[in-house]
Amino acid sequence: MPGQWIADDETARFNRRSREVSYSHVFPVAEMQSTASQYFGSMVAEYDSLIRRAVPRYDEMRERLLEYLPPTAVRVLELGCGTGNLSLALAGKYPQAKLTMVDAAPEMLNLTRLRLQESGRLTAEHTFVQSTFEELSLATGDYDLITSCISLHHVQDKAALYKSLRLSLAPGGYFIFADQLRGGTERIHEVNWRLWLDFCRQPGGCSEEEIDSLLQHAEKHDHYTPLAEHFQLLAEAGFRDFDCTWRNLIWGIVHAAV
Ligand SMILES: C[S@@+](CC[C@H](N)C(=O)[O-])C[C@H]1O[C@@H](n2cnc3c(N)ncnc32)[C@H](O)[C@@H]1O
Repeated sequence: MPGQWIADDETARFNRRSREVSYSHVFPVAEMQSTASQYFGSMVAEYDSLIRRAVPRYDEMRERLLEYLPPTAVRVLELGCGTGNLSLALAGKYPQAKLTMVDAAPEMLNLTRLRLQESGRLTAEHTFVQSTFEELSLATGDYDLITSCISLHHVQDKAALYKSLRLSLAPGGYFIFADQLRGGTERIHEVNWRLWLDFCRQPGGCSEEEIDSLLQHAEKHDHYTPLAEHFQLLAEAGFRDFDCTWRNLIWGIVHAAV
């Protein structure tokens, strides 16, 4: 249900359930999921291992994203918290902030809350919202910073999303996110894709079963937009100060300001 707040007893239920998840069941279950968040929610126990074997320089990208965020921000919105890797870093960078974490998968929200709690960084100012990005209801000027890591490529209608995010940012606010981008030309995209698959197949990388699952997921749920089109859509939504502050294959960090 959009905008649903996650209750504490769900964290306990999640803990019980995650202990029951066995690795060998993760991918067959994940393949049956009909939305991107169901796919990720079904692999919560395996996500942190898989993402590092499937996304080259994942940790470097998140660390670089943090470097380009403003030094201070009070009202911060994170779209697609997943298992909380960026959320923990945001809570560390902005310990006093009202940090709102959104994800459509309750399993992901519960794990993020648990990890914040275990790290001692959970505060009463932290809010967890179960909603799709598309259905999220945002008030005008509510945030100083909106950020996200590899989540927004699941949204097809980026024009509508960017307009709604722009309205929810206060004057002087920032929208800075890491995401998966389409190459500027088909040839560039194909090279990026081939080099990504080479990365996945390195020793210690993904199994062929995992790669099949990732490819099926991408085909079904991913909507890659070239960087130039992101800039155009951001401009049409009223943003300025565009830049790409980091790029590796299909992954990039996009910067925009109000
Ligand atoms: C690839 S994970 C990224 C998680 C985390 N930010 C990271 O860097 O590891 C994408 C997350 O976005 C969520 N998600 C995908 N599509 C969504 C949508 N349309 N609305 C809300 N959440 C969505 C998934 O449930 C998942 O937790």
